Amino acid sequence: MSLFNKHKAVETNASLLLALSFVVVTVGGVVEIAPLFYLDNTIEKVEGMRPYTPLELKGRDIYVREGCYVCHSQMIRPLRDEVERYGHYSLAVESSYDHPFQWGSKRTGPDLARVGSRYSDEWHVDHLTDPRSVVPVSIMPTYGFLSDVKITELDIEALLKTHRMVGVPYTDEMIENAAADLFVQADPDADYDGLQERYSESAQVRNFDGQDGVTEMDALVAYLQMLGTLVDFSTFTPVANR
Ligand code: HEC
Repeated sequence: MSLFNKHKAVETNASLLLALSFVVVTVGGVVEIAPLFYLDNTIEKVEGMRPYTPLELKGRDIYVREGCYVCHSQMIRPLRDEVERYGHYSLAVESSYDHPFQWGSKRTGPDLARVGSRYSDEWHVDHLTDPRSVVPVSIMPTYGFLSDVKITELDIEALLKTHRMVGVPYTDEMIENAAADLFVQADPDADYDGLQERYSESAQVRNFDGQDGVTEMDALVAYLQMLGTLVDFSTFTPVANR
């Protein structure tokens, strides 16, 4: 009986109830969250993950600026319907160079975490310019103006430096060559050996929008075509199967 009386004291005293609830939630939170900082397998070790190239990073900046995340998520959950539709579930490491992360919270359009290489560059340009031209029922807004905005400003070095400040491992060499690498990636006639040495051969070099000069369309399509293509799944073993 005395236990019930004590319980009554807690339930009839709002401040005490609040204080005790806080203690319980804190203990629960620490038990759930703290181990993640110490477990080796919180972020899987994989081959292929690398910092984004300057052109991809610029494209990502445009993605954030235009609010694509408002309608698109970039996180495939480990549920059967998602994995069958979008591909391998997203790994923590795949978001490790994303500041801020782009997981999103709403899917008005499909998840984009593995959209890279699924469509041609032309498809993306057509779709971004006029989504209804390729998907008649689409409600996605048009972004054709991106083809008219040439990338000329050279703040790309600062963009890489900022990402280094928050933990992306850009080297001094990557930062020194940022502006050159940005233009080289959209020009298949240029010498892009240096770019691929710095970022590996997974840095795709093409004239993404088919026009002269480097535009915001080039950057955004380069970013989309990279999404989900970096991790080498042929050498990846999930923790549960080790
Ligand atoms: C108002 C919501 C909305 C916004 C904002 C939006 N989209 Fe979409 N998006 C959609 C819808 C709906 C679809 C599915 C129909 C279609 O393919 O057009 C889609 C489809 C796509 C697809 C094809 C995906 C696939 O797997 O077929 C890509 C790529 C895409 N969007 C990129 C973008 C980018 C990049 C931006 C920002 C520049 C953006 N979207 C902004 C709603 C949106």
